[in-house]
Amino acid sequence: MRIAVLVSGSGTNLQAILDAARAGCLEAEVALVVSNKANAMALTRAHEAHVPSLVVSHKDYATREAYDAALVSALREHGVELVVLAGFMRIVTPVLLAAFPNRVLNIHPSLLPAFPGLDAQRQAFEAGVAVTGCTVHLVDGGMDTGPIVAQTAVVVRGDDDEATLRARILVEEHRLLPRVIQWFARGLVTIDHGRGVPRVVVAGQARGSFGEP
Ligand code: GAR
Repeated sequence: MRIAVLVSGSGTNLQAILDAARAGCLEAEVALVVSNKANAMALTRAHEAHVPSLVVSHKDYATREAYDAALVSALREHGVELVVLAGFMRIVTPVLLAAFPNRVLNIHPSLLPAFPGLDAQRQAFEAGVAVTGCTVHLVDGGMDTGPIVAQTAVVVRGDDDEATLRARILVEEHRLLPRVIQWFARGLVTIDHGRGVPRVVVAGQARGSFGEP
Protein backbone atom coordinates (compact mmCIF):
# COMPACT_ATOMS: atom_id res chain seq x y z
CA MET A 1 0.00 0.00 0.00
CA ARG A 2 1.36 3.39 -0.98
CA ILE A 3 0.92 6.02 1.70
CA ALA A 4 1.57 9.74 1.96
CA VAL A 5 2.50 11.36 5.26
CA LEU A 6 1.55 15.02 5.65
CA VAL A 7 3.59 16.98 8.19
CA SER A 8 4.25 20.46 9.53
CA GLY A 9 6.93 19.98 12.17
CA SER A 10 9.45 17.67 13.73
CA GLY A 11 8.15 14.49 12.13
CA THR A 12 8.77 11.99 14.91
CA ASN A 13 5.59 10.16 13.92
CA LEU A 14 6.82 10.10 10.33
CA GLN A 15 10.05 8.60 11.67
CA ALA A 16 8.12 5.90 13.52
CA ILE A 17 6.37 4.97 10.26
CA LEU A 18 9.66 4.95 8.31
CA ASP A 19 11.30 2.82 11.01
CA ALA A 20 8.41 0.34 11.07
CA ALA A 21 8.54 0.04 7.27
CA ARG A 22 12.30 -0.51 7.30
CA ALA A 23 11.96 -3.12 10.04
CA GLY A 24 9.51 -5.03 7.84
CA CYS A 25 6.60 -4.44 10.26
CA LEU A 26 4.54 -2.51 7.73
CA GLU A 27 3.12 -3.74 4.45
CA ALA A 28 3.15 -0.14 3.29
CA GLU A 29 5.59 2.16 1.58
CA VAL A 30 5.90 5.88 2.26
CA ALA A 31 5.50 7.07 -1.33
CA LEU A 32 5.49 10.79 -0.51
CA VAL A 33 5.99 13.22 2.37
CA VAL A 34 4.29 16.60 2.04
CA SER A 35 5.00 19.53 4.33
CA ASN A 36 3.25 22.90 4.36
CA LYS A 37 6.39 24.36 5.95
CA ALA A 38 9.76 24.50 4.17
CA ASN A 39 11.77 24.34 7.41
CA ALA A 40 10.05 21.26 8.88
CA MET A 41 12.52 18.79 10.42
CA ALA A 42 10.27 16.08 8.96
CA LEU A 43 11.65 16.94 5.49
CA THR A 44 15.17 16.05 6.65
CA ARG A 45 13.86 12.73 7.92
CA ALA A 46 12.24 12.02 4.54
CA HIS A 47 15.44 12.96 2.73
CA GLU A 48 17.54 10.69 4.96
CA ALA A 49 15.15 7.81 4.31
CA HIS A 50 15.32 8.47 0.52
CA VAL A 51 11.59 9.13 0.38
CA PRO A 52 10.25 11.71 -2.10
CA SER A 53 9.13 14.89 -0.40
CA LEU A 54 7.42 18.11 -1.40
CA VAL A 55 6.76 21.47 0.18
CA VAL A 56 3.29 22.76 -0.64
CA SER A 57 3.04 26.06 1.20
CA HIS A 58 -0.41 27.21 2.24
CA LYS A 59 0.80 30.76 1.65
CA ASP A 60 0.78 30.11 -2.11
CA TYR A 61 -2.95 29.39 -2.25
CA ALA A 62 -5.87 31.78 -1.80
CA THR A 63 -8.26 29.24 -0.31
CA ARG A 64 -8.09 25.99 1.66
CA GLU A 65 -9.87 24.28 -1.25
CA ALA A 66 -7.24 25.45 -3.77
CA TYR A 67 -4.52 24.24 -1.40
CA ASP A 68 -6.16 20.84 -1.03
CA ALA A 69 -6.61 20.54 -4.82
CA ALA A 70 -2.84 20.97 -5.16
CA LEU A 71 -2.33 18.28 -2.52
CA VAL A 72 -4.71 15.90 -4.32
CA SER A 73 -2.86 16.22 -7.62
CA ALA A 74 0.50 15.56 -5.93
CA LEU A 75 -0.92 12.57 -4.04
CA ARG A 76 -2.46 11.14 -7.23
CA GLU A 77 0.78 11.63 -9.15
CA HIS A 78 2.51 9.45 -6.56
CA GLY A 79 -0.15 6.74 -6.60
CA VAL A 80 -1.09 7.31 -2.95
CA GLU A 81 -3.78 5.06 -1.46
CA LEU A 82 -3.83 6.23 2.19
CA VAL A 83 -3.13 9.72 3.53
CA VAL A 84 -1.72 10.07 7.05
CA LEU A 85 -1.78 13.42 8.82
CA ALA A 86 1.12 13.22 11.30
CA GLY A 87 1.44 16.61 12.96
CA PHE A 88 -0.05 18.33 9.90
CA MET A 89 -1.47 21.42 11.55
CA ARG A 90 -4.11 22.31 8.99
CA ILE A 91 -7.82 21.70 8.63
CA VAL A 92 -8.50 19.75 5.45
CA THR A 93 -11.50 20.35 3.20
CA PRO A 94 -13.96 18.10 1.34
CA VAL A 95 -11.68 18.51 -1.72
CA LEU A 96 -9.11 16.19 -0.11
CA LEU A 97 -11.62 14.02 1.72
CA ALA A 98 -13.72 13.34 -1.41
CA ALA A 99 -10.58 12.28 -3.30
CA PHE A 100 -9.67 9.78 -0.54
CA PRO A 101 -12.95 8.70 1.09
CA ASN A 102 -12.32 7.03 4.47
CA ARG A 103 -8.62 7.00 3.61
CA VAL A 104 -7.39 10.07 5.51
CA LEU A 105 -6.06 9.38 9.02
CA ASN A 106 -4.99 11.80 11.73
CA ILE A 107 -3.11 11.27 14.97
CA HIS A 108 -3.93 13.48 17.93
CA PRO A 109 -2.30 13.59 21.39
CA SER A 110 -5.41 13.15 23.55
CA LEU A 111 -8.26 10.72 24.05
CA LEU A 112 -10.67 12.37 21.63
CA PRO A 113 -13.26 13.79 21.77
CA ALA A 114 -11.52 15.38 24.77
CA PHE A 115 -9.05 18.18 24.09
CA PRO A 116 -9.16 18.73 20.32
CA GLY A 117 -7.10 21.47 18.71
CA LEU A 118 -3.74 22.90 19.62
CA ASP A 119 -1.70 21.82 22.63
CA ALA A 120 -3.89 18.90 23.64
CA GLN A 121 -1.30 17.72 26.16
CA ARG A 122 -1.33 21.10 27.91
CA GLN A 123 -5.13 21.16 27.85
CA ALA A 124 -5.21 17.73 29.52
CA PHE A 125 -2.55 18.66 32.06
CA GLU A 126 -4.31 21.90 32.97
CA ALA A 127 -7.68 20.14 33.25
CA GLY A 128 -6.14 17.83 35.87
CA VAL A 129 -7.33 14.60 34.23
CA ALA A 130 -6.00 11.31 35.63
CA VAL A 131 -5.86 9.58 32.23
CA THR A 132 -5.18 10.96 28.78
CA GLY A 133 -3.52 9.39 25.71
CA CYS A 134 -3.57 9.47 21.94
CA THR A 135 -6.08 8.79 19.20
CA VAL A 136 -5.92 7.80 15.54
CA HIS A 137 -9.11 8.71 13.70
CA LEU A 138 -10.52 9.07 10.21
CA VAL A 139 -10.68 12.72 9.24
CA ASP A 140 -14.10 14.22 8.53
CA GLY A 141 -13.36 17.91 7.98
CA GLY A 142 -13.75 19.12 11.57
CA MET A 143 -10.85 19.90 13.86
CA ASP A 144 -9.67 16.53 15.24
CA THR A 145 -13.07 14.95 14.63
CA GLY A 146 -14.16 11.84 12.72
CA PRO A 147 -14.62 8.14 13.45
CA ILE A 148 -12.09 6.87 16.00
CA VAL A 149 -9.93 4.00 14.78
CA ALA A 150 -7.78 3.34 17.87
CA GLN A 151 -6.71 4.87 21.16
CA THR A 152 -4.01 4.30 23.76
CA ALA A 153 -4.50 5.51 27.32
CA VAL A 154 -1.66 7.15 29.26
CA VAL A 155 -1.96 7.59 33.03
CA VAL A 156 -1.01 11.02 34.38
CA ARG A 157 1.51 10.53 37.20
CA GLY A 158 1.68 12.60 40.33
CA ASP A 159 5.13 13.90 39.41
CA ASP A 160 4.32 14.62 35.74
CA ASP A 161 4.72 18.06 34.31
CA GLU A 162 3.49 19.00 30.88
CA ALA A 163 6.77 17.99 29.24
CA THR A 164 6.99 14.51 30.78
CA LEU A 165 3.35 13.85 29.96
CA ARG A 166 3.87 15.02 26.37
CA ALA A 167 6.90 12.70 26.03
CA ARG A 168 5.05 9.62 27.32
CA ILE A 169 2.08 10.29 25.03
CA LEU A 170 4.48 10.64 22.10
CA VAL A 171 6.01 7.22 22.82
CA GLU A 172 2.51 5.76 22.52
CA GLU A 173 1.77 7.74 19.34
CA HIS A 174 4.82 6.14 17.77
CA ARG A 175 3.47 2.68 18.61
CA LEU A 176 -0.14 3.32 17.68
CA LEU A 177 0.18 5.01 14.31
CA PRO A 178 2.21 2.30 12.48
CA ARG A 179 -0.07 -0.33 14.00
CA VAL A 180 -3.16 1.35 12.58
CA ILE A 181 -1.53 1.84 9.17
CA GLN A 182 -0.79 -1.88 9.12
CA TRP A 183 -4.49 -2.60 9.78
CA PHE A 184 -5.34 -0.54 6.69
CA ALA A 185 -2.62 -2.27 4.67
CA ARG A 186 -4.10 -5.65 5.60
CA GLY A 187 -7.65 -4.51 4.75
CA LEU A 188 -8.90 -5.08 8.30
CA VAL A 189 -10.73 -1.76 8.66
CA THR A 190 -14.37 -1.26 7.70
CA ILE A 191 -16.95 1.37 8.58
CA ASP A 192 -20.29 0.38 10.10
CA HIS A 193 -22.99 2.89 9.16
CA GLY A 194 -25.79 0.88 10.75
CA ARG A 195 -25.82 2.37 14.27
CA GLY A 196 -26.23 6.13 14.02
CA VAL A 197 -22.79 7.67 13.70
CA PRO A 198 -20.28 5.83 11.50
CA ARG A 199 -18.18 3.44 13.59
CA VAL A 200 -14.87 1.86 12.73
CA VAL A 201 -14.66 -1.92 12.92
CA VAL A 202 -11.24 -3.59 12.86
CA ALA A 203 -11.33 -7.34 12.27
CA GLY A 204 -9.78 -9.30 15.11
CA GLN A 205 -7.99 -6.37 16.75
CA ALA A 206 -8.49 -4.52 20.04
CA ARG A 207 -8.92 -0.84 19.19
CA GLY A 208 -8.08 0.42 22.66
CA SER A 209 -5.05 -0.27 24.78
CA PHE A 210 -3.10 0.99 27.78
CA GLY A 211 0.37 2.32 27.32
CA GLU A 212 3.40 1.22 29.30
CA PRO A 213 2.96 1.94 33.04
C1 GAR B 1 2.06 14.93 17.58
O1 GAR B 1 2.00 14.94 18.99
C2 GAR B 1 0.67 14.83 16.99
O2 GAR B 1 -0.18 14.00 17.71
C3 GAR B 1 0.23 16.27 17.06
O3 GAR B 1 1.35 16.99 16.65
C4 GAR B 1 2.53 16.29 17.06
C5 GAR B 1 3.43 16.15 15.86
O4 GAR B 1 4.68 15.61 16.26
N1 GAR B 1 -0.92 16.52 16.23
C6 GAR B 1 -1.92 17.32 16.59
O5 GAR B 1 -1.93 17.96 17.63
C7 GAR B 1 -3.07 17.37 15.60
N2 GAR B 1 -4.14 18.14 16.13
P1 GAR B 1 5.67 15.02 15.19
O6 GAR B 1 5.82 16.08 14.09
O7 GAR B 1 6.96 14.86 15.96
O8 GAR B 1 5.12 13.73 14.66
